[in-house]
Amino acid sequence: MEHTKIAVLGCGNLGLSLINGLLQNENFNPAGLSVSKRNTSPIAHLAEKGITIFDRNAEAISDARLIIVAVKPYDVATILEEIKTTFNAEKQILVSVASTVTITEIQQILPGATVFRAMPNTAAAIGESLTCISSSTTDKELISETGAFFSLLGETVFIKEELMEAATVLGACGIAYVLRFMRSMVQGGIQIGFDAESASRIVNQVVKGAAELLITGGQHPEQEIDKVTTPKGCTITGLNEMEHHGFSPALIRGISASYQLIEK
Ligand SMILES: NC(=O)c1ccc[n+]([C@@H]2O[C@H](COP(=O)([O-])OP(=O)(O)OC[C@H]3O[C@@H](n4cnc5c(N)ncnc54)[C@H](OP(=O)(O)O)[C@@H]3O)[C@@H](O)[C@H]2O)c1
Repeated sequence: MEHTKIAVLGCGNLGLSLINGLLQNENFNPAGLSVSKRNTSPIAHLAEKGITIFDRNAEAISDARLIIVAVKPYDVATILEEIKTTFNAEKQILVSVASTVTITEIQQILPGATVFRAMPNTAAAIGESLTCISSSTTDKELISETGAFFSLLGETVFIKEELMEAATVLGACGIAYVLRFMRSMVQGGIQIGFDAESASRIVNQVVKGAAELLITGGQHPEQEIDKVTTPKGCTITGLNEMEHHGFSPALIRGISASYQLIEK
């Protein structure tokens, strides 16, 4: 990975998260990274890190092996048209992180291209993304090469393309769902006596600890819940009160609503 040249086309919320994640990974050499956006002034500081900045996409991809398209779905076709004459289908791999744009749609503009769709999340900025990936190819080396790149930014899961929209909801929107849940816990903590800073500190570590329990142990959440719910105790009383007010159905309905919108 140290010598693989990467171009990131589009450098907004997600593009910057990817770049920041790469910069904090010691196995990544920033000299091999090119980034582009039309207005480059907000990312001028990246030049100090050894990254090359372009305002023309076709120039940014000139010697890249992996080309990451990180613009809004409605801008993807414009970018592909811009790089079409310089893109080398034999030597380059195109990775789109845009939701809803299919591999077939990309290949209609770039015939013969090896195309991956990837859905990271903004935790890529700290190397803790969960990136769902699907591909146009079954070539193990190409799959492993692209997977190795996203492994620099966190965990990876290869899925069928038909699940990419579901992956967007659960893996990328999921960050916002969890953060809103955490905000509510902080508000509850303040209600029962903590100042905001202490409540945040407690909640952050509780959520991290709960996730690590499942990641390390590999079991179902309910098994860990059983360990903290004393019969007639305060945990089960609180949990049941939350369920009476629609806690689980609200989350499931929210996830379904996001999915229905993205599937339209
Ligand atoms: N945010 C997330 O959590 C997340 C997670 C997974 C996937 N995604 C996907 O990532 C994509 C980008 O989302 P975002 O939130 O990062 O959007 P964003 O903040 O709006 O960033 C898009 C960037 O693309 C640049 N851009 C637009 N047209 C361009 C062009 N022709 N050439 C070069 N750069 C161009 C824009 O800068 P200029 O206007 O200066 O060119 C802007 O900085 C979306 O398709 C989204 O589905 C987002």
